[in-house]
Amino acid sequence: MTDRQYSAPSHSGPSAREPDHEPPEWPAQLPRQPRILAIANQKGGVGKTTTAINLGTALAAIGESVLIVDLDPQGNASTGLGVERAHRLHSTYDVLMDEMPLAEAAQETAVPRLYLAPSTLDLLGVELEIANFPDRSFRMRKAVASLQDSPSGPQFTYVLFDCPPSLNLLTINAMASSHAVLVPLQCEFFALEGLSQILETVERVRRGLNPDLAIHGIVLTMFDGRNKLSMQVVEDVRTHMGEAVYNTVIPRNVRISEAPSHGKPAILYDLNCAGSQAYLRLASEIIQRERLLCAA
Ligand SMILES: Nc1ncnc2c1ncn2[C@@H]1O[C@H](COP(=O)(O)OP(=O)(O)OP(=O)(O)O)[C@@H](O)[C@H]1O
Ligand SMILES: [Mg+2]
Repeated sequence: MTDRQYSAPSHSGPSAREPDHEPPEWPAQLPRQPRILAIANQKGGVGKTTTAINLGTALAAIGESVLIVDLDPQGNASTGLGVERAHRLHSTYDVLMDEMPLAEAAQETAVPRLYLAPSTLDLLGVELEIANFPDRSFRMRKAVASLQDSPSGPQFTYVLFDCPPSLNLLTINAMASSHAVLVPLQCEFFALEGLSQILETVERVRRGLNPDLAIHGIVLTMFDGRNKLSMQVVEDVRTHMGEAVYNTVIPRNVRISEAPSHGKPAILYDLNCAGSQAYLRLASEIIQRERLLCAA
Protein backbone atom coordinates (compact mmCIF):
# COMPACT_ATOMS: atom_id res chain seq x y z
CA MET A 1 0.00 0.00 0.00
CA THR A 2 1.30 3.43 -0.73
CA ASP A 3 -0.54 6.25 0.92
CA ARG A 4 1.28 9.00 -0.90
CA GLN A 5 -0.98 8.76 -3.89
CA TYR A 6 -3.95 10.19 -2.02
CA SER A 7 -4.69 13.80 -2.67
CA ALA A 8 -7.26 15.98 -1.06
CA PRO A 9 -8.60 19.48 -1.57
CA SER A 10 -6.59 22.22 0.05
CA HIS A 11 -7.50 23.12 3.57
CA SER A 12 -5.67 25.46 5.84
CA GLY A 13 -5.37 23.50 9.05
CA PRO A 14 -4.84 25.46 12.23
CA SER A 15 -1.46 24.21 13.30
CA ALA A 16 0.01 21.87 10.72
CA ARG A 17 2.29 24.51 9.40
CA GLU A 18 5.95 24.63 8.58
CA PRO A 19 8.44 23.20 11.07
CA ASP A 20 8.76 25.38 14.11
CA HIS A 21 11.43 23.35 15.85
CA GLU A 22 13.90 20.56 15.23
CA PRO A 23 12.05 17.30 15.85
CA PRO A 24 13.65 15.05 18.44
CA GLU A 25 15.14 11.78 17.23
CA TRP A 26 13.11 8.59 17.50
CA PRO A 27 14.14 6.33 20.37
CA ALA A 28 17.04 4.21 19.16
CA GLN A 29 17.93 1.89 22.01
CA LEU A 30 14.69 0.14 22.77
CA PRO A 31 14.76 -3.60 22.13
CA ARG A 32 12.00 -2.94 19.66
CA GLN A 33 10.93 0.59 18.91
CA PRO A 34 7.20 0.97 19.57
CA ARG A 35 4.95 1.49 16.61
CA ILE A 36 3.04 4.68 17.11
CA LEU A 37 -0.40 5.16 15.61
CA ALA A 38 -2.69 8.20 15.84
CA ILE A 39 -6.40 7.39 15.73
CA ALA A 40 -7.83 10.56 14.31
CA ASN A 41 -10.81 12.10 12.60
CA GLN A 42 -11.97 15.65 13.23
CA LYS A 43 -15.54 14.44 13.05
CA GLY A 44 -17.12 13.67 16.42
CA GLY A 45 -18.62 10.33 17.38
CA VAL A 46 -17.19 8.24 14.54
CA GLY A 47 -15.62 5.57 16.75
CA LYS A 48 -12.09 6.89 17.48
CA THR A 49 -12.21 6.10 21.18
CA THR A 50 -14.01 2.79 20.71
CA THR A 51 -11.35 1.83 18.20
CA ALA A 52 -8.48 2.94 20.47
CA ILE A 53 -9.84 0.93 23.41
CA ASN A 54 -10.76 -2.22 21.53
CA LEU A 55 -7.86 -2.28 19.13
CA GLY A 56 -5.54 -1.70 22.10
CA THR A 57 -7.20 -4.56 23.98
CA ALA A 58 -7.07 -6.86 20.98
CA LEU A 59 -3.38 -6.12 20.39
CA ALA A 60 -2.66 -6.73 24.07
CA ALA A 61 -4.59 -10.00 23.89
CA ILE A 62 -2.29 -11.26 21.17
CA GLY A 63 0.82 -10.47 23.18
CA GLU A 64 1.66 -6.86 22.30
CA SER A 65 2.41 -4.35 25.02
CA VAL A 66 0.18 -1.37 24.35
CA LEU A 67 -0.02 2.18 25.66
CA ILE A 68 -3.18 4.16 24.91
CA VAL A 69 -2.52 7.88 25.19
CA ASP A 70 -5.74 9.78 25.84
CA LEU A 71 -5.35 13.14 24.14
CA ASP A 72 -9.01 14.13 24.35
CA PRO A 73 -10.11 16.42 27.21
CA GLN A 74 -13.40 14.49 27.21
CA GLY A 75 -11.38 11.59 28.62
CA ASN A 76 -13.63 8.94 27.13
CA ALA A 77 -10.82 6.45 26.59
CA SER A 78 -9.86 6.82 30.26
CA THR A 79 -13.44 6.36 31.46
CA GLY A 80 -14.05 3.52 29.01
CA LEU A 81 -11.04 1.71 30.46
CA GLY A 82 -12.43 2.06 33.95
CA VAL A 83 -10.10 4.85 35.14
CA GLU A 84 -12.37 7.37 36.83
CA ARG A 85 -11.36 11.03 37.09
CA ALA A 86 -10.49 10.70 40.77
CA HIS A 87 -7.91 8.05 39.91
CA ARG A 88 -6.16 10.03 37.20
CA LEU A 89 -3.22 11.14 39.26
CA HIS A 90 -1.00 11.91 36.30
CA SER A 91 -2.24 12.84 32.89
CA THR A 92 -1.30 13.66 29.33
CA TYR A 93 -1.58 17.31 30.34
CA ASP A 94 1.39 16.82 32.70
CA VAL A 95 3.24 15.10 29.88
CA LEU A 96 2.60 17.90 27.37
CA MET A 97 3.63 20.48 29.95
CA ASP A 98 6.89 18.58 30.43
CA GLU A 99 6.09 17.93 34.05
CA MET A 100 5.96 14.15 33.81
CA PRO A 101 7.63 11.54 31.59
CA LEU A 102 5.11 9.60 29.51
CA ALA A 103 6.24 6.30 31.05
CA GLU A 104 5.37 7.62 34.52
CA ALA A 105 1.96 8.88 33.43
CA ALA A 106 1.13 5.40 32.09
CA GLN A 107 -0.94 3.32 34.45
CA GLU A 108 -2.05 -0.28 34.31
CA THR A 109 -5.58 -1.18 33.24
CA ALA A 110 -7.65 -4.27 33.93
CA VAL A 111 -6.31 -5.73 30.69
CA PRO A 112 -2.88 -7.37 31.01
CA ARG A 113 -0.24 -5.57 28.90
CA LEU A 114 -2.61 -2.64 28.22
CA TYR A 115 -1.60 0.69 29.78
CA LEU A 116 -3.24 4.08 29.73
CA ALA A 117 -1.93 7.62 29.96
CA PRO A 118 -5.19 9.26 31.04
CA SER A 119 -6.47 12.69 30.19
CA THR A 120 -7.92 15.30 32.51
CA LEU A 121 -9.93 18.44 31.84
CA ASP A 122 -6.67 20.43 32.13
CA LEU A 123 -6.11 19.41 28.52
CA LEU A 124 -8.81 21.91 27.51
CA GLY A 125 -6.38 24.76 28.15
CA VAL A 126 -3.17 23.15 27.01
CA GLU A 127 -3.32 24.52 23.48
CA LEU A 128 -3.18 28.07 24.77
CA GLU A 129 -0.49 27.20 27.26
CA ILE A 130 1.88 25.70 24.71
CA ALA A 131 0.91 27.88 21.72
CA ASN A 132 3.94 30.12 22.10
CA PHE A 133 6.48 27.39 22.78
CA PRO A 134 8.75 26.91 19.77
CA ASP A 135 8.36 23.14 20.07
CA ARG A 136 4.57 23.26 20.48
CA SER A 137 3.96 20.64 17.77
CA PHE A 138 6.65 18.28 19.06
CA ARG A 139 5.87 18.15 22.78
CA MET A 140 4.36 14.67 22.52
CA ARG A 141 7.04 13.44 20.17
CA LYS A 142 9.63 14.32 22.79
CA ALA A 143 7.58 12.47 25.37
CA VAL A 144 7.37 9.36 23.19
CA ALA A 145 11.10 9.52 22.52
CA SER A 146 11.64 9.61 26.29
CA LEU A 147 10.06 6.15 26.68
CA GLN A 148 13.57 4.78 26.15
CA ASP A 149 14.68 6.51 29.33
CA SER A 150 12.58 4.13 31.43
CA PRO A 151 14.08 0.74 30.61
CA SER A 152 12.75 -0.75 33.85
CA GLY A 153 9.14 0.10 32.95
CA PRO A 154 6.98 -1.73 30.41
CA GLN A 155 8.53 -1.80 26.94
CA PHE A 156 5.63 -0.84 24.74
CA THR A 157 5.37 -2.32 21.28
CA TYR A 158 2.39 -0.12 20.33
CA VAL A 159 1.42 3.40 21.32
CA LEU A 160 -2.10 4.44 20.25
CA PHE A 161 -3.20 8.07 20.45
CA ASP A 162 -6.90 8.69 20.97
CA CYS A 163 -7.33 12.12 19.38
CA PRO A 164 -10.05 14.70 20.06
CA PRO A 165 -12.67 15.51 17.40
CA SER A 166 -10.70 18.44 16.06
CA LEU A 167 -7.62 19.10 13.97
CA ASN A 168 -6.13 21.13 16.81
CA LEU A 169 -2.68 21.22 18.35
CA LEU A 170 -3.41 18.03 20.31
CA THR A 171 -4.14 16.11 17.12
CA ILE A 172 -1.14 17.73 15.44
CA ASN A 173 1.07 16.64 18.35
CA ALA A 174 -0.24 13.09 17.93
CA MET A 175 0.39 13.09 14.18
CA ALA A 176 3.83 14.64 14.56
CA SER A 177 4.71 11.78 16.96
CA SER A 178 3.28 8.92 14.93
CA HIS A 179 4.43 6.52 12.29
CA ALA A 180 0.94 6.33 10.82
CA VAL A 181 -2.63 7.55 11.13
CA LEU A 182 -5.63 5.28 11.44
CA VAL A 183 -8.89 6.95 10.44
CA PRO A 184 -12.21 5.60 11.74
CA LEU A 185 -15.03 6.51 9.37
CA GLN A 186 -18.66 6.05 10.35
CA CYS A 187 -20.91 4.42 7.73
CA GLU A 188 -23.18 7.43 7.29
CA PHE A 189 -24.21 9.77 4.53
CA PHE A 190 -21.48 12.42 4.86
CA ALA A 191 -18.66 9.96 5.52
CA LEU A 192 -16.51 11.00 2.55
CA GLU A 193 -16.87 14.73 3.16
CA GLY A 194 -14.81 14.87 6.33
CA LEU A 195 -12.26 12.46 4.93
CA SER A 196 -10.64 14.95 2.58
CA GLN A 197 -10.00 17.30 5.49
CA ILE A 198 -8.17 14.75 7.55
CA LEU A 199 -6.17 13.52 4.56
CA GLU A 200 -5.14 17.07 3.81
CA THR A 201 -4.04 17.55 7.40
CA VAL A 202 -1.97 14.38 7.24
CA GLU A 203 -0.36 15.73 4.07
CA ARG A 204 0.45 19.04 5.76
CA VAL A 205 1.92 17.33 8.80
CA ARG A 206 3.98 15.20 6.45
CA ARG A 207 5.26 18.27 4.59
CA GLY A 208 5.93 20.38 7.65
CA LEU A 209 6.49 18.21 10.69
CA ASN A 210 6.81 14.48 10.09
CA PRO A 211 7.87 13.45 6.56
CA ASP A 212 7.50 9.73 7.27
CA LEU A 213 3.90 9.89 8.44
CA ALA A 214 1.81 7.29 6.62
CA ILE A 215 -1.89 6.59 6.43
CA HIS A 216 -2.21 3.23 8.09
CA GLY A 217 -5.76 2.72 6.97
CA ILE A 218 -9.39 3.67 7.12
CA VAL A 219 -11.69 1.60 9.29
CA LEU A 220 -15.40 1.71 8.55
CA THR A 221 -17.38 1.73 11.77
CA MET A 222 -20.99 1.31 12.91
CA PHE A 223 -21.94 -0.63 9.81
CA ASP A 224 -25.58 -1.67 9.75
CA GLY A 225 -26.17 -4.49 7.28
CA ARG A 226 -29.93 -3.88 7.25
CA ASN A 227 -29.42 -0.36 6.06
CA LYS A 228 -28.89 0.22 2.33
CA LEU A 229 -27.12 3.49 3.05
CA SER A 230 -24.47 1.71 5.13
CA MET A 231 -23.75 -0.61 2.21
CA GLN A 232 -23.61 2.30 -0.21
CA VAL A 233 -21.12 4.13 2.01
CA VAL A 234 -18.86 1.07 2.19
CA GLU A 235 -18.94 0.80 -1.60
CA ASP A 236 -18.24 4.53 -2.12
CA VAL A 237 -15.39 4.66 0.37
CA ARG A 238 -13.81 1.55 -1.12
CA THR A 239 -14.14 3.00 -4.63
CA HIS A 240 -12.48 6.27 -3.61
CA MET A 241 -9.88 5.01 -1.18
CA GLY A 242 -9.13 1.51 -2.50
CA GLU A 243 -6.63 -0.48 -0.50
CA ALA A 244 -6.41 2.13 2.23
CA VAL A 245 -9.68 0.76 3.58
CA TYR A 246 -9.28 -2.23 5.88
CA ASN A 247 -11.19 -5.35 4.87
CA THR A 248 -12.61 -5.55 8.37
CA VAL A 249 -15.75 -3.48 8.85
CA ILE A 250 -16.92 -2.83 12.42
CA PRO A 251 -20.65 -3.50 12.76
CA ARG A 252 -23.01 -1.35 14.79
CA ASN A 253 -23.38 -3.46 17.88
CA VAL A 254 -25.19 -2.67 21.10
CA ARG A 255 -22.64 -4.52 23.25
CA ILE A 256 -19.95 -2.12 22.03
CA SER A 257 -21.97 0.88 23.12
CA GLU A 258 -22.80 -0.69 26.50
CA ALA A 259 -19.23 -1.65 27.41
CA PRO A 260 -17.85 1.85 28.31
CA SER A 261 -20.50 2.39 30.98
CA HIS A 262 -19.09 -0.73 32.67
CA GLY A 263 -15.56 0.69 32.38
CA LYS A 264 -14.54 -2.24 30.20
CA PRO A 265 -13.41 -2.75 26.62
CA ALA A 266 -16.12 -4.55 24.62
CA ILE A 267 -13.67 -7.43 24.22
CA LEU A 268 -13.74 -7.98 28.00
CA TYR A 269 -17.42 -7.18 28.37
CA ASP A 270 -18.56 -9.64 25.70
CA LEU A 271 -15.81 -11.38 23.80
CA ASN A 272 -18.21 -13.19 21.50
CA CYS A 273 -20.31 -10.28 20.32
CA ALA A 274 -19.99 -9.30 16.68
CA GLY A 275 -18.26 -6.02 17.55
CA SER A 276 -15.55 -7.63 19.67
CA GLN A 277 -14.90 -10.24 17.02
CA ALA A 278 -14.58 -7.52 14.40
CA TYR A 279 -12.01 -5.63 16.51
CA LEU A 280 -10.00 -8.83 16.94
CA ARG A 281 -10.00 -9.26 13.15
CA LEU A 282 -9.00 -5.62 12.73
CA ALA A 283 -6.03 -6.16 15.07
CA SER A 284 -4.72 -9.05 13.01
CA GLU A 285 -5.24 -7.09 9.80
CA ILE A 286 -3.32 -4.19 11.31
CA ILE A 287 -0.44 -6.45 12.27
CA GLN A 288 -0.31 -7.76 8.70
CA ARG A 289 -0.37 -4.24 7.33
CA GLU A 290 2.34 -3.24 9.79
CA ARG A 291 4.63 -5.81 8.20
CA LEU A 292 4.04 -4.23 4.79
CA LEU A 293 4.49 -0.69 6.08
CA CYS A 294 7.65 -1.54 8.01
CA ALA A 295 9.09 -3.35 5.01
CA ALA A 296 8.34 -0.44 2.66
N1 LIG B 1 -19.58 -0.28 16.49
C1 LIG B 1 -20.36 0.39 17.32
N2 LIG B 1 -21.62 -0.04 17.59
C2 LIG B 1 -22.42 0.68 18.42
N3 LIG B 1 -22.08 1.80 19.02
C3 LIG B 1 -20.85 2.27 18.79
C4 LIG B 1 -19.93 1.60 17.93
N4 LIG B 1 -18.78 2.32 17.88
C5 LIG B 1 -18.97 3.38 18.68
N5 LIG B 1 -20.20 3.34 19.22
C6 LIG B 1 -20.79 4.34 20.13
O1 LIG B 1 -20.85 5.57 19.42
C7 LIG B 1 -20.52 6.65 20.27
C8 LIG B 1 -19.31 7.38 19.68
O2 LIG B 1 -18.22 6.49 19.68
P1 LIG B 1 -16.76 6.98 20.14
O3 LIG B 1 -16.83 7.67 21.44
O4 LIG B 1 -15.84 5.82 19.99
O5 LIG B 1 -16.48 8.03 18.98
P2 LIG B 1 -15.37 9.17 18.95
O6 LIG B 1 -15.02 9.38 17.52
O7 LIG B 1 -14.26 8.83 19.87
O8 LIG B 1 -16.17 10.39 19.53
P3 LIG B 1 -15.54 11.84 19.92
O9 LIG B 1 -15.30 12.49 18.61
O10 LIG B 1 -16.61 12.50 20.73
O11 LIG B 1 -14.29 11.58 20.68
C9 LIG B 1 -20.24 6.05 21.64
O12 LIG B 1 -21.42 6.13 22.40
C10 LIG B 1 -19.91 4.60 21.34
O13 LIG B 1 -20.24 3.74 22.40
MG1 LIG C 1 -13.43 9.97 21.42
